[in-house]
Amino acid sequence: MSDSTFLAACRGEPVERIPVWFMRQAGRSLPGYRKLRETHDVLSLTQTPALAAQVSMEPIELLGVDAAILFADIMLLPIAMGIEVRIVEGVGPVIDDPLDTPEKVARLHAFTPERVDYLQETIRILRTKLSVPLIGFSGAPFTLASYLIEGKPSRTWLKTKLFMLEHPKAWKELMTALSDGVIGYLQTQITAGAQAVQLFDSWVGCLSPEEYRAFVLPYVQHIFASLKNGGVPRLHFGTNTAGILEDFSSVDCEVIGVDWRISIGKAKQAIGDKSIQGNLDPALLLAPWETLTQTVDRMLAEINPKQGYIFNLGHGMPPEADDMVVRKLVEYVHKK
Ligand code: CP3
Repeated sequence: MSDSTFLAACRGEPVERIPVWFMRQAGRSLPGYRKLRETHDVLSLTQTPALAAQVSMEPIELLGVDAAILFADIMLLPIAMGIEVRIVEGVGPVIDDPLDTPEKVARLHAFTPERVDYLQETIRILRTKLSVPLIGFSGAPFTLASYLIEGKPSRTWLKTKLFMLEHPKAWKELMTALSDGVIGYLQTQITAGAQAVQLFDSWVGCLSPEEYRAFVLPYVQHIFASLKNGGVPRLHFGTNTAGILEDFSSVDCEVIGVDWRISIGKAKQAIGDKSIQGNLDPALLLAPWETLTQTVDRMLAEINPKQGYIFNLGHGMPPEADDMVVRKLVEYVHKK
């Protein structure tokens, strides 16, 4: 038996208590993080091991969750591959000179672990201090490519889709370079001590099933296959994936993360034997307590929550969420 409900659930083993963690639980509105943000920007916080470790640990005590997530950002990998990225408050990642032509793809350097020595140090610190498992993560190639091509967050991903459709050869180069980077980046995290890894393909749900299969799936398959020997559970998360869920969950991994646009029971049917993570609408954290718990009860009734299930939101925690409500929710799920 594993001593962690989170790791046991990833592996599909029965648990006595439903494991809970929240995407984007570190940072956001937590008081210790807000205090550090008065003197540090996000990127320098992620690159300062002692402080990044502190931010990763804050929700463990405060919210009572069953896993910690490394305090990092998906853009740290492109930065390690030579791309200049700024994180703009209220906007997100911005690249002043995006990779928006086939020629510019060559700017992406190969990933080497030394470029993220700071992350390895953060992981080592966390492993000496944490009582719960540590989740490492990376952005998936499509989601990373979308920031690199658009230069900023987009709601339509038009430039990304046109690049993919007009320049299939350059797309292949870009996705291959990013996939190799993701593999090296996640392997580095596992070697340093990450006990599970999650691939965030946050924006891949903007593609049609045919596009997903042709332009994304082979790369993600290759990433997960390459990580198999790492020996830690592998989680694959995306939003808006209801229409591509069979393909999305066909990769060789242990856990599929889904958002709330599909019912968890239906999602479980589509993914089959793998474990499932999700899928409360983050907005519910701000709803009346009765509404919140009724929704949670309904979710839990659709699956067997004590085997192969990890309670989470369907996407990141909103900064507006009240820490004490979130804590109460964790207790509520733990009592089920
Ligand atoms: O889970 C955690 O809290 C750990 C840290 C973490 C950050 N980014 C720190 C961060 C994680 C897991 C991420 C992942 C990430 N980053 C994703 C995938 C998950 C998702 O939300 O879909 C994406 C798409 C990004 C890109 C990114 N970085 C955006 C869109 C933004 C701005 C808006 C936002 O969502 O916060 C960032 C900046 C960023 N990354 C902050 C933090 C704490 C800044 C927030 C602040 O200003 O305090």
